[in-house]
Amino acid sequence: MKMKILVTTQSIEKVKADLVVAIDDPKVELFETGSSPIGKALAEARKTFRKKNVHREIVRTFESQTLVVYSSTHEKVYDLHESSKIFVARALAFAADYGHSKVALLLDGANGSDYVGSATEGFVLGDYRFDKYRKEKRAHKVSVSLVCRPAELQKAERALLRYRVVSEEVNRARDLVNEPGDRVYPKTLAALARKIARAGKLGATIVSGAQLEKQGYTGLVAVGKGSLYAPCLIVLRYRPAKKSKHHLALVGKGITFDTGGISIKPAEGMWTMKGDMAGGAAVLAAMAAIAKLKPKVAVTGIIAAAENFPGPKAQRPGDIFIAKNGKSVMVDNTDAEGRLVLTDALARAGEEKATHIVDVATLTGAVVRALGTSVAGIMGNDPDLVRAVIDAGARHGEAYWELPLIAEYRELLKSPYADLNNIGGKFAGAITAGLFLQEFVPDGALWAHLDIAGPFILEKKWKYYPEGATGFGVKTFVELAESF
Ligand code: BES
Ligand code: ZN
Ligand code: ZN
Repeated sequence: MKMKILVTTQSIEKVKADLVVAIDDPKVELFETGSSPIGKALAEARKTFRKKNVHREIVRTFESQTLVVYSSTHEKVYDLHESSKIFVARALAFAADYGHSKVALLLDGANGSDYVGSATEGFVLGDYRFDKYRKEKRAHKVSVSLVCRPAELQKAERALLRYRVVSEEVNRARDLVNEPGDRVYPKTLAALARKIARAGKLGATIVSGAQLEKQGYTGLVAVGKGSLYAPCLIVLRYRPAKKSKHHLALVGKGITFDTGGISIKPAEGMWTMKGDMAGGAAVLAAMAAIAKLKPKVAVTGIIAAAENFPGPKAQRPGDIFIAKNGKSVMVDNTDAEGRLVLTDALARAGEEKATHIVDVATLTGAVVRALGTSVAGIMGNDPDLVRAVIDAGARHGEAYWELPLIAEYRELLKSPYADLNNIGGKFAGAITAGLFLQEFVPDGALWAHLDIAGPFILEKKWKYYPEGATGFGVKTFVELAESF
C-alpha cells in the first residue's frame, strides 16, 4: 500500500501527528519556532545544537506528541537535500520503534518548501522493504504531513507530486532487481513494458523470436541461445506534445540472470546477478515516470533483455558473430555478455533516430574495484552530455565519476579472428568495456555510458536505502529528460 503523504499549511498544534520531526541546519531555515510548547522546544533545540555541536538528535515528549529534532552539522559528506532524506528515513525507524503512526515533518521555515521534494523521496525510498517472501514483514505503517507555509502550498504540492512519482518508480526498479532470476526473465520485462506503455500512453515495440534473427539482432540471439527463456528487445517511446529538436534514447542492459555462460562465474556472490538487469529496470522505471511527468523532449527507452546461461545451445568462447552494424566480434569470454546485447540496443537507438544516447549497465566488476559501491562510472564521446548526466545525478544523490576512454587502449580489443575481441585483458576493464561499446554507437549520436555495477545492489544499508537494490539511475534519467 502506498504511503499517505500530504502537504498541510495548518500550524503544528492543529496537525494531527504523534511524532513531530524537524531538521536543524545552521544556514538553511527549514522550520519555524514560535511560542507554542513545541515552538519553544524547537528554539531550545536549535540553541543547544548551535552552542555545543556534540548533539545529533534531541527528543522531547509532550502530552500526545513526541518531538525529534535532527542536527545536520555532523553530516559532512552529503548536502542538506541528501541528509534530509537520511533523517527522514531515520525518523521512520524511530516511528516504527515507538509505535508512532502519524508523522509531521516541519518545513514551515523560510527555506522549507525547497525541501519538500527531498523529504518526500526520503519517506518513499526510506519506507521501501523487499519482504514479500518473508513471514516477518514490516507491519508498521505511517502517514505523513509535510507542514509548509500557506504561501508555499502550490510549490510544495508540485514537488510532492513530482518526487512521489519518481520515488515510486525507483521502488519499482528496486523490486525488479530484488526479485529472483526465476521470477523475472526477458518476457517478464516485456510484459511490464507493455503495461507501462498502456498506462502511460507510450508507443511500444517488442522484438522477439524469429523477428530478432530476421532483423539482425545478433548480439541478443548469441547471448540468449543458452537459456530456456528467449531474449527480446524492448522499445518504449515517449513523445512530447510539441515536437522536440533533441531525441534522448535511454538504453538498458537487461540480463535477467548472468551465470557467465560457458565462461561460468564462481559461486560466491553469483546470486547478485539476478540484478544484472538493473540497467534495463532503471530504463523501464524512468520511462514510466517520464510518461507521467511529460518532459519537453522525446525519449525512447530501449532494453536488451536476455538470460546468460550455459547449456548445449549456449555460445562458446571463440564463437564469432556479426553485430548489427556489420562489425564482427569474437566472444573470447561469454561472461562479457552485457556489451554484446548492447550492440543491438545501440544500433536500435540509431534506427530510432536518437540524437543523444545514454546507456546504463551493470557492466564490469572492474568499475566496482575502481570506484566502489557508492559511485557509478561514466564515459562518453561528448563532454557536455557527460556533464549533464553527472549534474542530473548530483541533484538527486546519484554520483558518477568519469573514466577516460583512452584511445590507446582500443588496441586491447584487437583479435586475429574478428574485427573486435569482446574482452580487453587484465587491466582497465571498465574502460575497455566502454571502448567496446563506443564501436557500436551510431554515427553522429552523442553518447554516454553509465556503468552501475557498484551501486545497483547493496550488501549493507546505505543512506536511506536498506540492503538490496537501489534503483540507481532512475532519478538521474528523469532529471536528465527534464533538463533538456
Ligand atoms: N554482470 C557482470 C558485471 C558485474 C560484476 C556486475 C559485478 C555487477 C557486479 C558482467 O556481465 C561481467 O561478468 N563482466 C565481466 C567481464 C570480464 C569477463 C571481462 C567482469 O567484470 O568480470
Ligand atoms: Zn557477465
Ligand atoms: Zn552481466
